[in-house]
Amino acid sequence: MVFPVSRLADNRVPGVDAGVAINDPLKHLVACHDRIEERLQILERVIPHLRSDSEAKRQEAREALDKALQFVEVMGHLHTLDEEESVFPRILASGGEDTPILQELTTMLESQHREKEAVLEKLKAHVAAFPAAPAPPSAEQAGQFEGLVAQLTGLYRPHIMIENERLIPLSADHLNPNDAEQIRQEMRARRGA
Ligand SMILES: [Fe+2]
Ligand SMILES: [Fe+2]
Repeated sequence: MVFPVSRLADNRVPGVDAGVAINDPLKHLVACHDRIEERLQILERVIPHLRSDSEAKRQEAREALDKALQFVEVMGHLHTLDEEESVFPRILASGGEDTPILQELTTMLESQHREKEAVLEKLKAHVAAFPAAPAPPSAEQAGQFEGLVAQLTGLYRPHIMIENERLIPLSADHLNPNDAEQIRQEMRARRGA
């Protein structure tokens, strides 16, 4: 799926997903992955727009960039908490004979979370040093931005794939209805819902 840069410009609640109903927690995690992927695509596509000849397009692109970064930071953080504080401890507690696999998997995913957070911090600091919109970033700034975005997507996409293909099915196997209800309530509380 390809999302135009302009699509985020009028996003009503760019930072959090408080308006999204959380019914099935595992489906919610997968849906969050899709929403993060949408923002990664914005980050990948934004540079030519930030350096457009049109001042209006540069302004629009900067707003889309800021919203995409804010979403990845704020929603991404809540999503990581959902996984690390709500899902991982429960599947580890009820993993049975899968416990060693689950320990290895969750340890790897947590370390990927820390790597992703470190690159995101660098990316945010880099964008904060851009000239104020609608002035364009320099060619050097644009090149460094694209390098950091490539690092971020290079971490995030395999991470999401592993979670969708391994974490979610294993969680479905090991979470009972009571676990799922508690996770749902914790997710909602995290978002003030
Ligand atoms: Fe994750
Ligand atoms: Fe995730």
